[in-house]
Amino acid sequence: MANSRPKVLLTRRLPEHAIEKLEAHVELEMNPDDRIMTKAEILEGVKNKDGLLCLLTDKIDKEVIAAAPDLKVIANYAVGFNNIDIAAAHRKNIVVTNTPDVLTDTSADLAFTLILMTGRRVLEAGNYLRAGDWKGWGPLQFLGTDISGATLGIIGMGRIGTAVTKRARGFDMDVVYWNRTRFSVREEKQLGLKYLKFNDVLHRADFLSIHLAYNEETHHLIDEAALQKMKQSAFLINTSRGAIIDEAALVAALKNNKIAGAGLDVFEEEPIITPGLLSLKNVVLLPHIASASTNTREKMAMMAVDDLLAVLQGGKAVNEVLI
Ligand code: DGY
Repeated sequence: MANSRPKVLLTRRLPEHAIEKLEAHVELEMNPDDRIMTKAEILEGVKNKDGLLCLLTDKIDKEVIAAAPDLKVIANYAVGFNNIDIAAAHRKNIVVTNTPDVLTDTSADLAFTLILMTGRRVLEAGNYLRAGDWKGWGPLQFLGTDISGATLGIIGMGRIGTAVTKRARGFDMDVVYWNRTRFSVREEKQLGLKYLKFNDVLHRADFLSIHLAYNEETHHLIDEAALQKMKQSAFLINTSRGAIIDEAALVAALKNNKIAGAGLDVFEEEPIITPGLLSLKNVVLLPHIASASTNTREKMAMMAVDDLLAVLQGGKAVNEVLI
């Protein structure tokens, strides 16, 4: 008997429960290796597929979409979807889904970790000890910046920005923000937030944390001119998308002590790290792990699978990207 189940390409192994659920409902082709698929492999893989479950590391552009005439749904295992040409997908009536909400707290935890690590020089001090250089307590060793009482500037006040604000309030930080749309006065009061113009947030922040989606408008939003507006004592934190920051300008600003440091979980050309960043002591660099807790990654996987199956079974996805 012919197999009538929908055909799905999964571009990388996900938590086991998600794979089991997929295998129960679809004819699954899965990348057997724990590595990013090449463009050629994706082009070949999507050819006869009804569904695609992909990652933020997979570029799903016009070419991929054109190569998949039967495709009905692209479920992206991420909240960000800048890796997908949404307009091209929508032109072909392909539903695109993402994984919001479930990763909000885990991502906010990591952004706040970077605030603490940069301000208190945690990595630098730990490396000093591990290198065997510590000869005992010293009054002037690794003096950092207080987190409590400092001003946190947030650029982009969506779900994750809001969750970072809650953490900051617990540390008695003042929080100022800029967002395309301003919260209501009541919401600002509830969260203890102050709205400022973009440049004023840059001027005021002791820690500046970026929580924007990446698109043409936000490309290199934090460029040389923006970095110049920051305090010399300030730290730049990014857990959203790397290309929102002009990394070459950031390296120059850090080298010339225009700002005090940076905590980065995302990079312009992942996994390539812009020359100069690795040799700087005043930066903390992480391999895009903001959502990387076992619990959250399981929830993201189930969310992506459920939405993919909903569309393939003729229903509606809960987390459809509608832009
Ligand atoms: C996302 O889901 O977009 C995040 O970058 C994952 O950490």
